[in-house]
Amino acid sequence: MSFVETLEPVTMNEPPTETSPEPVAASSPAVAAEAPRPVEEEALIEIENLGFSYDLGKTETLRDISLKIPKGKVTSFIGPSGCGKSTLLRCLNRMNDLIETAKVTRGTIKIMGQDIHAPDVDAIELRKKVGMVFQKYNPFPKSIYENVAYGLRIQGIKTRSVLDEAVERSLHHAALWEEVKDRLNSSALGLSGGQQQRLCIARTIAVQPEVILMDEPCSALDPIATARIEELIAELREDFTIVIVTHNMQQATRVSARTAFFYLGELIEFGPTETVFGNPAKKQTEDYVSGRFG
Ligand SMILES: Nc1ncnc2c1ncn2[C@@H]1O[C@H](COP(=O)(O)OP(=O)(O)O)[C@@H](O)[C@H]1O
Ligand SMILES: [Mg+2]
Repeated sequence: MSFVETLEPVTMNEPPTETSPEPVAASSPAVAAEAPRPVEEEALIEIENLGFSYDLGKTETLRDISLKIPKGKVTSFIGPSGCGKSTLLRCLNRMNDLIETAKVTRGTIKIMGQDIHAPDVDAIELRKKVGMVFQKYNPFPKSIYENVAYGLRIQGIKTRSVLDEAVERSLHHAALWEEVKDRLNSSALGLSGGQQQRLCIARTIAVQPEVILMDEPCSALDPIATARIEELIAELREDFTIVIVTHNMQQATRVSARTAFFYLGELIEFGPTETVFGNPAKKQTEDYVSGRFG
């Protein structure tokens, strides 16, 4: 399976080349001097000219999206409701395959260099590498332990010590272990909403994905539970590439290094979060991030 292929050499931390400096706006030298310089970074996900349709190609819900999502960072998708954020997120692990009339109309998505629509790519294998956490936390009506062990059991792992170790590690990683270690055999449905969402994150990371997709993971949670998930995202980014859809712009600025702004099925702007929010290149982005529409 080519999803374990080695990646391109890491270039993320190398200094940018000096050959083609960005044009400097004469009117704002201070801002220009501080603006982040373009850095070659390693793209884990490369989306090229992607088009997507829910009705067999009659209308395109996503049009000509090109985007390189860097490895080991958090990338936010923002934009008004209905602009296609969730659709694009679900394209990344081929969740839309489950919709009969859904169709990629053009373009490619490569993850770790592999075209995810190539005939030899199995969507189930892909989803192990590209896990997903949903808006409405959805633990199974099983014990806390079995929720986390679920993906491993599907892989055929039966050895108790291996499962125990993975469950404990994943719950630690999801910042839930201390709260549940004495009741691993209790129903997951007895946990609070915030705990259930962290359990879903533990379930996702138990199978050691490369990428975690999160679709508005905090929108059903109160502010305290939301803050805990945001702290958790900050820790998880050490080990995973995270793509998060959020309608909460403060959240995007708090958790993500990169932000992509979408409008009506198109990618309008993509860049460092501080640039997209603080110094956007496009008027539509500026209007949206300043709350003028959306
Ligand atoms: N399963 C589906 N079948 C048909 N149309 C859909 C489906 N899911 C979403 N859509 C449509 O695709 C567009 C983009 O939706 P979505 O990706 O959910 O937007 P966002 O997440 O940005 O709010 C919307 O017009 C929505 O109605
Ligand atoms: Mg959505």
